[in-house]
Amino acid sequence: MTISVTVNGVRHERAVEPRLLLSDFLRHDLGLTGTHVGCEHGVCGACTILLDGEAVRSCLVLAVQADGHEITTVEGLAPSPDTLHPLQAAFREAHGLQCGFCTAGFLMSLIPFLRDHPHPSEPEIREALSGNLCRCTGYQGIVEAVKLAAGAAGAAP
Ligand code: FES
Ligand code: FES
Repeated sequence: MTISVTVNGVRHERAVEPRLLLSDFLRHDLGLTGTHVGCEHGVCGACTILLDGEAVRSCLVLAVQADGHEITTVEGLAPSPDTLHPLQAAFREAHGLQCGFCTAGFLMSLIPFLRDHPHPSEPEIREALSGNLCRCTGYQGIVEAVKLAAGAAGAAP
């Protein structure tokens, strides 16, 4: 099938197999390898992207289901190559990552969360993070990063 998707503001038209996962489409067809793949069955959250502004697990979506829709991946967050998005800057500042494998998924899950909850409480932050797995940080640095982003520059995409 031929699909047309807009990814990080750029329109792409591609012929794809109907069974192709959106995560594989982004990584292999478009070369956007910032979207990571951990479990490939909806558990770890590493593959989270924005589909029409909402966080979804791209390993649970077929590429053909994204036809006609807008996608944002982690590559689309920073406003320029030498400027981090405020949420990325907060992760760096608060040590919200170690190996970084999970980070893109956390960032993409948190963008709509902070849009909808600009001043979240710590329980709300922890609830929001509960769908993403991190094997390194113990989560405390990530929680601090979200507080920093919410309290400082905000985190609108
Ligand atoms: S790779 Fe998609 S949720 Fe783990
Ligand atoms: S920083 Fe390594 S898995 Fe989260």
